Amino acid sequence: MDKRRLLGTDLDVSVICYGPMRAPQTQDDPAVAQHQRALRAAIDRGVNFIHSSYEYGVRWLMTPVLRDHPRRHDLLHVIKAPVPDWDDGGFDPAKLEAHIDAALRELCTDRIALVQWMWRCRPHEDPPRLTLLAGIRDAVAESFERLRDKGKVAHMGCFPYFPQSAEAALDIPGNRALIAYYNPIEMEMLPVIQAAAARGQGFLAIRPLFEGVLTSRYADQAALPAGHRLAKPKYAAHFDHRARLATLLPEAAQDMTRFAIRFPLMLDSCASVIVGLNSETQVHELCDHVQGVQPDDVTVARVKQLFDEMTQPKG
Ligand SMILES: NC(=O)c1ccc[n+]([C@@H]2O[C@H](COP(=O)([O-])OP(=O)(O)OC[C@H]3O[C@@H](n4cnc5c(N)ncnc54)[C@H](OP(=O)(O)O)[C@@H]3O)[C@@H](O)[C@H]2O)c1
Repeated sequence: MDKRRLLGTDLDVSVICYGPMRAPQTQDDPAVAQHQRALRAAIDRGVNFIHSSYEYGVRWLMTPVLRDHPRRHDLLHVIKAPVPDWDDGGFDPAKLEAHIDAALRELCTDRIALVQWMWRCRPHEDPPRLTLLAGIRDAVAESFERLRDKGKVAHMGCFPYFPQSAEAALDIPGNRALIAYYNPIEMEMLPVIQAAAARGQGFLAIRPLFEGVLTSRYADQAALPAGHRLAKPKYAAHFDHRARLATLLPEAAQDMTRFAIRFPLMLDSCASVIVGLNSETQVHELCDHVQGVQPDDVTVARVKQLFDEMTQPKG
C-alpha cells in the first residue's frame, strides 16, 4: 500500500483511509461480521489510517478488531470532533476533550493522530460560521495545544463545509490539514486545497466515489436494484454528471471505480482518500486500484472544466 506524508505533519498515511460510516449500528444486523472482516482485511492490506466518529454509532463494531489486531500500534486514527455542535452556541474545551477520551478508549489507542475539528451553528451558512469562528479560534488553538501536551492528540485538521469557511480555517494556529468532500463531480474545494498546499497544509479527500455513484457497478439509475439508496431523485443530476465524465475520459469509461478512487490522489497534496469499505471484495479492489498514482494536472484541469460546466447556473 502506497503511503504519503500528510503535509505539515509527521504522519505517513496509507493512500486509502478506512471509512466506517455505513457499517451496522446494531449487533443483530447480519452484516456485522462482513464489516469486521472488511476492516481486518484493510489493515492486513496495509491501510494504517482509520477514520471514525461517535456520530456513526459503529465504533463498538471496530473495537474488537482494533483491540486484537497485531498492527494496532501502527494505526493512525483520524476522528471527527464537532465542537461546537449545532445548538451549542460556543466552544467548550471540556466537551472536545471528552470526545477525544471516548475515542481513545473505543479505538484502543494511546493517541489520536489527527482530529478533524468542525464547528457547527445555525443557520448552516458562511456568514454566521465566520463570525463564530472569529470568536472561538484562539480558544480552539489553545485547547489543541493542551491536548498535544497531554499526549492525547498529535495534530489538528479541519472539515469546514464550505470554501469560504475553509479559507478562514487555514488561519487557525496549529491547523495542519483541510479535510473535505472531493471527487470528480464535487470539486468546489479545489482552489482552497491549492491554497492550503501553498501554505504547507495537507489535504484529505472524503467520499471519493460520491457515495457509490462513481463506481463501475451502475452506469445510470436505471441499472440500480429496486429500493437502492442511490435511486433517490437527488442523485439523478450526479448520474448525469457521471455519464458526461465517462464521455470525456476513456479511462473513466473503462473503469469508473478505478478512475474515481485515484482521482483525488492526482493532487500532490492529497495524502489519502477517506472511502467507505463495506466488504473484503471492496477492500481488495480499491487497494489494487490505488497503487502508483502520479500527479496529473492535465486530467485534474479537464475534470474541473467539466465540473464548472455542469455546475454553472443555467440561463
Ligand atoms: N463530514 C464528514 O466528516 C463525513 C461525511 C461523510 C463521510 N465521511 C467519511 O467518509 C467515508 C466515505 O463516505 P461515503 O461512504 O459516503 O462515500 P464513498 O466512500 O464515496 O462511497 C462508498 C460507497 O462506495 C461503494 N464502494 C466501495 N468500494 C467499492 C468498490 N470496490 N466497487 C464498487 N463500489 C464500491 C460502497 O457502496 P455499498 O454501500 O453499496 O457497499 C460504499 O458504500 C465514510 O465512511 C466516513 O468515514 C465523513
